[in-house]
Amino acid sequence: MAKLMILSMSDANNSKGFDTLCIHGGHKAENNRAHLTPIYATSTYTFDSAEQGIAIFKGEEQGYIYGRFGSPNTNEVEEKIALLETYGLKDENGNPLQAKAILHASGMAAITTMLLANLKAGDTIITHHSLYGGTQEMIDKILPNLDIRVTITDFHNIADVEAAIKADSSIKLMYIETPANPTLQCVDMEALTAVGKAHNLIVCADNTFATPYLQQPFKYGVDYIMHSTTKFLNGHGTAVGGILVGRDVNKMKTTVTKTHRLLGANSNSFEAFLLNNGLRTFALRMERHCSNAEKVAQFLARHPAVAKVNYLGLASHPDHAIAMKQMKHAGAMLSFELKGGFDAGTQFINKLKLCISAVSLGTCDTLISHPASTTHVGVKPEDRIKFGITDGLIRMSVGIETVEDIINDLTQALA
Ligand SMILES: Cc1ncc(COP(=O)(O)O)c(C=O)c1O
Repeated sequence: MAKLMILSMSDANNSKGFDTLCIHGGHKAENNRAHLTPIYATSTYTFDSAEQGIAIFKGEEQGYIYGRFGSPNTNEVEEKIALLETYGLKDENGNPLQAKAILHASGMAAITTMLLANLKAGDTIITHHSLYGGTQEMIDKILPNLDIRVTITDFHNIADVEAAIKADSSIKLMYIETPANPTLQCVDMEALTAVGKAHNLIVCADNTFATPYLQQPFKYGVDYIMHSTTKFLNGHGTAVGGILVGRDVNKMKTTVTKTHRLLGANSNSFEAFLLNNGLRTFALRMERHCSNAEKVAQFLARHPAVAKVNYLGLASHPDHAIAMKQMKHAGAMLSFELKGGFDAGTQFINKLKLCISAVSLGTCDTLISHPASTTHVGVKPEDRIKFGITDGLIRMSVGIETVEDIINDLTQALA
């Protein structure tokens, strides 16, 4: 085997620019001199000898074993995303912060591995309202069967959070999602992590909406970061995936790896290849996503058919100050309320010519959805309105098209 890691964890963190790591991070040269890592379409790997098999199984020699345990393609994106999440950060001793990432079949798989690797029967999770629906259901409907419970508090009120932790010694893990899907609620990661760590909790953060381009939860001492890589990290809507990044490298290599492997929560070489390809332009895409979203939000805020715009970059958003404290920019997600209610929502969707009517988010093209007629169509209006999903609410993931074209499409659809 020829030369190897171009930018490994040890040499790359802090020594290269963020954009460079998006392109080169985690890449290893190939025997056949392929420019990009070829897609390893193989379920298993061979050993030169019985002794080598023993060494690889014992972890004394690096090597691939079996597709469920990983491949050069999954490994490349794992190293790359770990580099992005630790970029520029230092550990307690002033050394570049180390972390290990494990790629999963989906964001939900990454979240499930994290929860199962860290919790046991009798434990309680402390979290806030307005998590991504799948996470909420996992916590509400599946974990109680394993005798793992949840306490929901207002994460805007740090004193209440601390009081809840002090009152219940079974609370072991703090689960943060900021900005949250779909409400864009932001909570103060620094303050929450400080409280969590003061009480020896495991603290984890879903960083899907912000991505490491906009915020780095490890900066505040969070233990685990999860992403649905399906979204901005992939950026092209070509593959469902998830990543779990942990700061305790030893635990990630042992308990967490074991849980991931035994759950069969692995991704595969093809989807890892697609994700890696998307990541190569991640920083550039994010720059454009953000500047487009800002212009679209300003346009919508002035439009007479729009009652309200929810965008973290607008001073009118209740969490504007928290978002600006911990995020480099307000990001590419926004929602807005049409004055005409449900019918105005469906008419608007039907008139779109450029923007795509679809759920999901974070792709290069602008995705727009009307939750009341799609994701929340089965939820009673009085229930969804309680969570801010009103009849005329439109959710938008602003893409990287020419911004005037996005605005022109919105203009004609709102007319
Ligand atoms: C914030 C957030 N976390 C987790 C998930 C779950 O990810 P996946 O759909 O890749 O399983 C999603 C999906 O939309 C999400 O938006």
